[in-house]
Amino acid sequence: MNDQRVGANSGVFLNNAWYVAAISGTVGRELTPVKLLGTALVLYRTAAGEPVALEDACPHRKLPLSMGRLTDDRVECGYHGLTFDARGQCVAAPTQEQIPSSAVVRSFPTKDKYGLLWIWMGDAELADDDAILTIENYDNPAWHTTDGDSLTVHCNYLYLTDNLLDPSHVAWVHRSSFAGEGTADAPLTIEENEHGLVVSRWLYESEPPPFYKPLLKFDGDCDRLQHYEVRFPSIAINKGIYCPAGRGGPGWVPGSDSYEMVSYNFLTPVDANTTRYFWLQHRNTDIDDDALTKEIAAGAKRAFEEDKVILEAVHQGIAAETTRHINLGLDAAAIRFRQLLEGRIANEANG
Ligand code: FES
Ligand SMILES: [Fe+2]
Repeated sequence: MNDQRVGANSGVFLNNAWYVAAISGTVGRELTPVKLLGTALVLYRTAAGEPVALEDACPHRKLPLSMGRLTDDRVECGYHGLTFDARGQCVAAPTQEQIPSSAVVRSFPTKDKYGLLWIWMGDAELADDDAILTIENYDNPAWHTTDGDSLTVHCNYLYLTDNLLDPSHVAWVHRSSFAGEGTADAPLTIEENEHGLVVSRWLYESEPPPFYKPLLKFDGDCDRLQHYEVRFPSIAINKGIYCPAGRGGPGWVPGSDSYEMVSYNFLTPVDANTTRYFWLQHRNTDIDDDALTKEIAAGAKRAFEEDKVILEAVHQGIAAETTRHINLGLDAAAIRFRQLLEGRIANEANG
């Protein structure tokens, strides 16, 4: 990225990738309009439960198909009744004898995994189910996963990837929850890999942050790992490890009194100015404690709402800037991620 202003090129997206379109349970036998990557879509399920995603525009007069009716597994347009099957083929044109060959709507590959409904917005031929992110320990009975939740954030998705590669903000934005001693100034390590970037650091011999203190299985100070990872195009994995002081560091080995929590964050662009933010929390202690699960889910949502307030204002601030904004050392990973993603988007555009 030659132009390091973060507002540049924010309205182009990587199409050949899996994005989370919805929480699986929110899509059923109703026509559900959504907009993703600037494209209006209608989502529904067939009677057999298969998810369907079609372009939400009738080829006749572009009435959103979501304003029509679902009849069996087909969508009937609400204006003149053109009817499309789950692959987007027109199967009925009630006002004329012949179905026009141009009466087709685009359909998109979809897949349910981890309680999330995934969608491939690019070339359908390239959609590979195995390319969906793997959640380690998802099937491990010693781990618990919260039900997914979501927020709509009125900012470009790259402000969210910036934020999720920036452990520094925790000390100011999440002062009452995730922040703890040393979160403001301990040095960060940045590592690049084929999936994206990881920013991490161990914080030693510090008091556990207020949100985590009641969850730990030991008293006293902790060593703590902050692992902030973002994978292409926009999946953030935020891992925390807490262990008794003196046991952490690069040689850390999982122990029965270590607490591990992984937050999976799926950032799906709606358009250049809006993002659907989906997440799951995954942890390895007190997995049958439903009250705790609710508390963790509520705590995560409160924290993400704190980020939302900041990032919506940042989006507005940068869109309206009259003097050029600057970058700081803490932006190194976010800027590198933007460069790498921009390279992938350019490669895709150039075939
Ligand atoms: S607009 Fe859909 S059939 Fe006319
Ligand atoms: Fe945050």
